[in-house]
Amino acid sequence: SPNHFLDLNMIGKEALRHIIDDGISVKQARSGLPRGTVDGDAALEGHTLAAIFEFPSTRTRVSFDMAMRQLGGDTIVLNSTDMQLGRGETIADTARVLSRYVDAIMIRTDDHGKLQELAEYATVPVINGLTNDSHPCQLMADVMTFEEHLGSIEDKIVTWSGDGNNMVTSWIHAAGQFGFEFRVACPAELSPDSRALDWAKEVGANVHVTQDAQEAAAGAHCIVADTWVSMGDDAANRHNILAPFRVDEEMMSKAAGDAIFMHCLPAHREEEATTAVMDGPQSVIFDEAENRLHAQKAVLRWCLGTS
Ligand code: CP
Ligand code: NVA
Repeated sequence: SPNHFLDLNMIGKEALRHIIDDGISVKQARSGLPRGTVDGDAALEGHTLAAIFEFPSTRTRVSFDMAMRQLGGDTIVLNSTDMQLGRGETIADTARVLSRYVDAIMIRTDDHGKLQELAEYATVPVINGLTNDSHPCQLMADVMTFEEHLGSIEDKIVTWSGDGNNMVTSWIHAAGQFGFEFRVACPAELSPDSRALDWAKEVGANVHVTQDAQEAAAGAHCIVADTWVSMGDDAANRHNILAPFRVDEEMMSKAAGDAIFMHCLPAHREEEATTAVMDGPQSVIFDEAENRLHAQKAVLRWCLGTS
């Protein structure tokens, strides 16, 4: 079957390490090039990506499109409501039809099952651009960003403070695959996906869940926050139970001296993290956003067999 990029626990460790290293090298190769030019090797010249959106997006939409352009290829951005999908055409038929036109398909969907069905019926690579369950492309950018700032992520400590959401599932997968310690501090009601935790146990990943954010922050190399209300979530009561998990300067001071702060964005400032932290000296949030572009080039190159 094609090289699908669906979830980090479904891809081999070596392939994941290769994608991160390739992301770093495509970023380096780009740094000497003026704006408005294609990457030197134009690795995906003549290739086209179809990018389907059932949810809003700024970073994923623009970084995938720019990644394809800089690789010499093209993107067709499709809002699902403008497609026959919105009138009830099945995912399976959409997969079979798009596979006859384009070279790869990315989808952002409210239902992980749709991603899986798309991959089952597509004959070209399918990429997870975020689902209700996970966001693996973001993790490739995040691991790359961590390593740029602090060196190898292996055996380091990453602490999440907030909702045990789709990003947490991908962080759990990353912890198992890249070999770091991942601490999740979250309210009991908003615990991480049990399947992700079961997987972590099965593979012996170093993952811990706690309700004490201050304790989880102690000695961490990286503190991560995300919105308290993910796309598709019901906001009711979340703000009350998540208040103790807000990342502020006090929490950052418990982490290692050179700790970094990450957030995949978009953020609600003063909710999940204070502006002092988000714009402070430890924040790497805009490096993360930039690295979506470079990491996704590496994902696309891997999916299409050119890296
Ligand atoms: N981080 C991220 O995926 O952002 P968008 O929702 O803007 O794509
Ligand atoms: N957890 C967030 C991430 C947004 C990129 C959401 O699913 O809305």
